[in-house]
Amino acid sequence: MASPINQGDVAPERKNLILNAFFMNQPSYVAPGIWRHPRNQTWRYNDVQYWVQVAKLLENNFHALFLADVLGAYDVYDGPRNFKPVLAGAAQFPLTYRGLLISAMAAVTNSLSFCITASTTYEAPFSLARRLSTLDHLTNGRVAWNIVTSYLESAARNFGLREQLSHEERYEKADEFLEVCYKLWEGSWMDNAVIRDPATARYTHEHRVRRIDHQGKHFQVAGPHIVEPSKQRTPFLVQAGASKAGKAFAAKHAEAIFLPGMDFAAVRKLVQELRGLAQEEGRDPASIKLLGGLHVVLGATDEEAQKKYEEYLTFADIEGSLALFGGWTGTNLAGILDDADLKFTGPPAMKGMVENWSATIPGTSDLNWTKALGSAKTVADIIETWIDETGIDGFNLSYAVVPDDLEDHAKYLVPELTSRGIFEPPSGEDQSTRGVYLGNRKDRLRDDHPGSQYKWTSREA
Ligand SMILES: Cc1cc2nc3c(=O)[nH]c(=O)nc-3n(C[C@H](O)[C@H](O)[C@H](O)COP(=O)(O)O)c2cc1C
Repeated sequence: MASPINQGDVAPERKNLILNAFFMNQPSYVAPGIWRHPRNQTWRYNDVQYWVQVAKLLENNFHALFLADVLGAYDVYDGPRNFKPVLAGAAQFPLTYRGLLISAMAAVTNSLSFCITASTTYEAPFSLARRLSTLDHLTNGRVAWNIVTSYLESAARNFGLREQLSHEERYEKADEFLEVCYKLWEGSWMDNAVIRDPATARYTHEHRVRRIDHQGKHFQVAGPHIVEPSKQRTPFLVQAGASKAGKAFAAKHAEAIFLPGMDFAAVRKLVQELRGLAQEEGRDPASIKLLGGLHVVLGATDEEAQKKYEEYLTFADIEGSLALFGGWTGTNLAGILDDADLKFTGPPAMKGMVENWSATIPGTSDLNWTKALGSAKTVADIIETWIDETGIDGFNLSYAVVPDDLEDHAKYLVPELTSRGIFEPPSGEDQSTRGVYLGNRKDRLRDDHPGSQYKWTSREA
């Protein structure tokens, strides 16, 4: 496959690498147990000043802060319904509501975007559309929505269900959820609806707002959308499902896709498949940004980074890690021998991810694929190789110790990537998430995106 970085002989056109900081608003996010590392400040996640500090560290060093989310405790390991293994290591528990952190961070940044995860299975489209529009206003267009369908049985029980909707039904509901949102965001208010005209004493023009009257299988929503149009209207849409249904949904709706994957060949195949599916949907496949995941430990030298990594490992909470794995796979690993081949017996919670893992990996020890350890040069080489080999556009990078690891990112990795000409961090005001990600400075959905068919233009008035 042609390298996206080195195309042509004379002046190689270099794509701008997309880098997001992958976070959770809780004490240990990707590494159960790391909260107790003496230099780690993640336990301050309930202090607004902590998030202000994080936002300032990320500004001009990342495209976005990506906040993952779940709606219940991981309770499959050593179960059933046993949430105790997550407590000591703070394995994605406790976890606050991510949306409320954004305004404080938006106030101290100009170009950082905020990607927040929200579930189409448990949210109501009217209220989620309202919250995202509010955030799009308060950030001046710097909001993305990571659309998930959720995978934990514990979440279903928190929302009045005895068990989760089937995988198929969750994606069917997600598709209708998006249709309702497009109608609210794109079709309920005309561009020039807000006139704020003191002469005629009208804030909003009486013919330029309308109900949506959506009547579907899962949702009935009358509208109109209760928030006036924001800069992007539809927030930049991100998705991370990897099953057959998840890929079809992503190819239709997502503007950026977060891919699972453990080796070049598997990710390359996924990249080609997703771009092909997008083309079948009538979309420009090159306009969809594909992101891998990488856990990074940096040092001045490779040896220093390796030493740091080994030190971090001494804080690992094994029970918490097994609890996360149990929730992701739907499989209780209690009692399974370390060297046993994993047989995934239960219904895989994150179907696509499990399919990808189990296709190539006989045991958990090989799950180390996601880490990049070393000096800036070593990590930048790994990043470039991933891009050359797979055709992805960027990464969600996770770090373990805050603020140290984020400071190392700014000190070591950003200058290295910038000097190679592959990363130009977003800077300056007035750029929306969509404009930055797609590199075209356009705030609104592209015309080939299915949400665009709901746009209400003044020509129709
Ligand atoms: C890399 C990756 C990251 C994800 N992050 C989240 C998350 O933060 N919250 C969540 O509820 N689901 C998350 N998911 C789950 C998916 O969005 C999706 O709901 C789940 O994988 C089930 O769909 P699938 O069978 O199509 O994969 C993630 C999935 C992948 C592959």
